Amino acid sequence: MRKTLSRMAVCAATCVILAGCGGSPAPAPTADEPQAEQTTQTTAAIEDERASTTSATSGDEQAQGIDYLALVNKLNPLPDGWEDALETVHMTNSVGDDVEVEKKAYDAYLELKAALEEEGVHVDLDSARRTVAAQQKIMDDFTQKYGTDYAKKTVATPGYSEHHTGLALDLYLNIDGKDIVMNEDMVQYPEVWEKIHAKLADYGFILRYLEGDEHITGYGYEPWHIRYLDDPAIAKEITDKGITFEEYKAGKTMPEVSYDYGESDLYTTEELEEAAVQMKCEFATFEDCELHSLRYAGDECNTKENLDWLNSLDENVNYAQVVELLTDFHSPVEGGGAWEADTEMKDYQWWLAREEGKGWQLVTWGY
Ligand code: DAL
Ligand code: ZN
Repeated sequence: MRKTLSRMAVCAATCVILAGCGGSPAPAPTADEPQAEQTTQTTAAIEDERASTTSATSGDEQAQGIDYLALVNKLNPLPDGWEDALETVHMTNSVGDDVEVEKKAYDAYLELKAALEEEGVHVDLDSARRTVAAQQKIMDDFTQKYGTDYAKKTVATPGYSEHHTGLALDLYLNIDGKDIVMNEDMVQYPEVWEKIHAKLADYGFILRYLEGDEHITGYGYEPWHIRYLDDPAIAKEITDKGITFEEYKAGKTMPEVSYDYGESDLYTTEELEEAAVQMKCEFATFEDCELHSLRYAGDECNTKENLDWLNSLDENVNYAQVVELLTDFHSPVEGGGAWEADTEMKDYQWWLAREEGKGWQLVTWGY
């Protein structure tokens, strides 16, 4: 039987958008794509839906405080109500710019900075909280200077930047009394970054965009971009394991999943695991749903027909390979949306695809 999920209805009734991870942002659906009868989900459609709900919230929806473990990334925008709950402070950096930072993150940053100074390492804050308008300006500037591809790899889509949280801090260096602020200059000091990164967890920070993990985070290595989690033990766990925040969130929300990646002539187990991380991060946004098992459907999913279908969902991509994952899970006890309450869902399909040389993108699910 075809299982469908109306994301809008399910989210209203049962879900808190608290986690997720993703590949590249998917552009808006094409004009001729059927909208009204669409019952399954594509990343493009969800981004549109979520983007339209990021700013305004009514009084009774206001968050009581921010979730320091909220994950904002290419698939997940700033949670609703965030700005109402956020408390920030302003500081002026050494080059005279005003920088706005979440209150506790700033206190922790000052402690980190002091500890680094004892080791002769000097840092300052280049950028922390950004409004959607400020992020748009950065995106426009980067697109103009470096082109769309580079801009998308390095700058988050407005509404989907961790900088909106006030918990993401971009550092810059001061070496021998000279400020080093340009990215291309900062990367020339790996030994300085190493000292900085070694201290982050003690103050509740993690390095967010790790080297070699672009296929998971969606962004290239950024030694300067740190994220405050308000919990040194969690920061230490993530750092010690060498995992991304996406993987941490996915692992936390579903510790008891059985995996079966079967035999594949197309993909290594590691490649299938990377696809599974994308799927699990989305699943993690379904509050109270319990994932039991996840399996690879087999190499026969990688047909031209499936490729054509997934490519037809987004005119701006050119997928080269497909993965279909199947899951069994338990729907929320209280029910809601398109799911029957408290029910075992079987063989629920998730479709992922990747372009040549790029990471997996979760394209559609809900079958
Ligand atoms: N540079 C990071 C990804 C941002 O724009 O939020
Ligand atoms: Zn940043």
